[in-house]
Amino acid sequence: MVQRSVVTGVGGYLPDRIVTNDELAKVVDTSDVWITERTGIRQRHRAADDQPTSDLAVAAARRALESAGRTTDDVDLIVVATTTGDQTFPATATIVQRKLGCPVGPAFDVQAVCSGFVYALSVADGFVARGRSKCALVIGAEEMTRLMDWTDRGTCVLFGDGAGAVVLEAGRGEGTKADRGVLGFALMADGTKQDLLYVDGGVSTNGQIGYLRMQGNQVFRHAVVNISEAILSAAADAGVEVSEVDWFIPHQANLRILEGVARRLGIDEAKVITTVAEHANTSAASIPLALDAAVRDGRIKKGDLLLMEAMGGGLTWGACVVRF
Ligand code: ACO
Repeated sequence: MVQRSVVTGVGGYLPDRIVTNDELAKVVDTSDVWITERTGIRQRHRAADDQPTSDLAVAAARRALESAGRTTDDVDLIVVATTTGDQTFPATATIVQRKLGCPVGPAFDVQAVCSGFVYALSVADGFVARGRSKCALVIGAEEMTRLMDWTDRGTCVLFGDGAGAVVLEAGRGEGTKADRGVLGFALMADGTKQDLLYVDGGVSTNGQIGYLRMQGNQVFRHAVVNISEAILSAAADAGVEVSEVDWFIPHQANLRILEGVARRLGIDEAKVITTVAEHANTSAASIPLALDAAVRDGRIKKGDLLLMEAMGGGLTWGACVVRF
């Protein structure tokens, strides 16, 4: 018998305010046709001025706990994947802990930009699979719209705000790919590609929050190659074939990246969960938000084999295989 980290609850939250492509076309020189054809994005959600990232995280976490049948008292670990935390410090995870009223226990943030949720899940899996946590909250929460330069049409149309969360609980398995739980990972980073995607501000550089800067076509090129590599590595780590995967839950950056990866690996596009049209790129929140959408609409069922993958600033990229 082996200890596994099993996803027992999923939740998501999107701010009420929806911004359409047509609305953005009033702010920058763009159009609904351009955005839809180049990215697949039709709209994005935007947080209210007085709604910090922790509020989105708390709402998603409450829904995940409810779906797991757990209460805030059960939570003994909180990992928040975010690039857009409430404050420089403390970690948004500790703010979430306070707002939820969870007991004292470890709570910290993981920063790997759009790959953040995959990284955070692997960190939490380390705690749960080793018996150091019985009930962990893993949250991806972002307000990427706060990092936008609203004069840069190459970036400001791509991003949105939101949060998604999972509850990870200890479960027993046989040590085979039939077990429910986290089965395999691949995590990677290449800091030499930092200039392709970064924020031009920081505490120890210019003291500013900064704006997101991206060489979009270069990021696009790396994304298809790197994500394909991560998918194959994570599948090998889990001892599964890519063809066995029931559902692919990609980071939702651009529909053309999702299609490019599917083509490269011969993945049936009907198995790829896409929310990019409604959510846009919500960075670390995008995978748990897509997971939540597909669990709620009944596509993803208990026992299904899931593969989640992402690439983001760093560059960082990664994938994980989970039997739901
Ligand atoms: N509306 C209209 N025209 C635009 C817009 C816009 N919103 N944005 C760019 N253009 C123009 C450019 O100015 C350029 O015009 P030019 O030829 O006159 O110079 C033309 O469109 C083509 O620009 P490209 O950048 O080559 O367009 P591309 O087809 O590559 O699409 C895009 C751009 C959508 C950004 C794409 O490259 C992309 O999605 N890249 C990946 C982004 C991504 O995946 N990020 C993930 C990580 S995010 C994270 O980690 C935080």
